[in-house]
Amino acid sequence: MKTHIIILLYIVLRTVSGQLNDHRDPTLSDGYNQSKIQMRQYDHHDPIPSDVYNHSKVHMKQDGRHQPEYYSYEQPCPDAEDIAPCVCTYDTVSSAMDLDCSAVESEEQLKQIFKADFPFKNFNQFNLTGNNNIKVLELGVFNGISFEIIHIEENSLEVIELHALDSCYETATEIYLYHNKITSFPFDDVSLFSKLCYFTLSYNPLSVIPADAFHGSTALVYLYMSDNNADIVGTFQDLPNLRNIYLGYNAITTIPVHFIKTGSSDLIYIDLHGNNIVSVEPVGFDIVDGLDIDIGGNSLSTLDEATWRLHLEAGGTLSASYNPLLCGCDIAWLFAEDQLLEHVHYARCTDGKFLHDLDPSIFDNC
Ligand SMILES: *[C@@H]1O[C@H](CO)[C@@H](O)[C@H](O)[C@H]1NC(C)=O
Ligand SMILES: *[C@@H]1O[C@H](CO)[C@@H](O)[C@H](O)[C@H]1NC(C)=O
Ligand SMILES: *[C@@H]1O[C@H](CO)[C@@H](O)[C@H](O)[C@H]1NC(C)=O
Repeated sequence: MKTHIIILLYIVLRTVSGQLNDHRDPTLSDGYNQSKIQMRQYDHHDPIPSDVYNHSKVHMKQDGRHQPEYYSYEQPCPDAEDIAPCVCTYDTVSSAMDLDCSAVESEEQLKQIFKADFPFKNFNQFNLTGNNNIKVLELGVFNGISFEIIHIEENSLEVIELHALDSCYETATEIYLYHNKITSFPFDDVSLFSKLCYFTLSYNPLSVIPADAFHGSTALVYLYMSDNNADIVGTFQDLPNLRNIYLGYNAITTIPVHFIKTGSSDLIYIDLHGNNIVSVEPVGFDIVDGLDIDIGGNSLSTLDEATWRLHLEAGGTLSASYNPLLCGCDIAWLFAEDQLLEHVHYARCTDGKFLHDLDPSIFDNC
């Protein structure tokens, strides 16, 4: 009885602390079930950064960044009536001037607002949240006003025009665009954001994500592209500061050679959960000690030695829940003396048996 209470408490605590989000715990399901819908509740593809995103580490302000030029002013905001229904707020403690345009009524109105007299042009944060009136973010809309943190979330926004965010190329450190209806995004602009650390386009209906657009985004630390159901074409290369990349719930079917070749020694997590991956080419990923690759919820029938040995040997781990693994001689290498199976988590055979529960002697004749 006592044990039950403790287990229950444990489950409750884990749920509350959000750790089930970790989507590495498929043990709650009864047996083998590849249904993606069912897995979503364990999945951590939520771009809200609180648990993974270390603001103090990547936020420029902590690095003794110079004060904005308006820091000694009592009220650097534009006149409230000139920019209504946008609202400018100024926090004297952090010297942060923010602009919330969530209540804006049309594209035309938004454009007019930025033509008002702005005594200072460098804002900390822009916010457009829960707005159903703006469908297109037009070229020139910000009229030279810059932002460091851009929150454009949970709107009906469909299109961001090429260079629409051009006033922020040198300033933006964080761009949040999740839960919109974006079908057209100017990927050619991405590499122009020279300080961009955190970028999310998760939960949009993009049909194609051109990975090559991120080549050379040297400041990028966190990249969230999950839940678009998009084809991902090209490769993610030359991202020397990347730590986490989220590509879950897209339409990837094969992982090509050098798919993720960032050159970053800080890379710790690659999320490929809930795609439809049937094959992974050898040399698909960076080889980094401590890197966890989550390939759960896909359609792999084997874990190839040629593909995975280097990754596991180098101290990487592989989370492979919910794949229809055939568990023949093709996986005997995981049960060899070097015990690489220890670095593979949650993998099961088609009959629902965990690889870890297989009797190694069944591979003796392989
Ligand atoms: C898998 O889960 C789905 C959705 O919960 C359910 O409809 C289906 O019957 C399950 N399949 C198996 C084999 O348990
Ligand atoms: C965040 O980064 C700072 C500075 O590098 C470090 O001191 C701190 O321990 C980090 N916090 C977490 C939760 O990783
Ligand atoms: C953005 O604006 C909405 C509506 O005014 C508000 O609820 C939300 O907290 C704001 N978000 C940020 C990050 O400031």
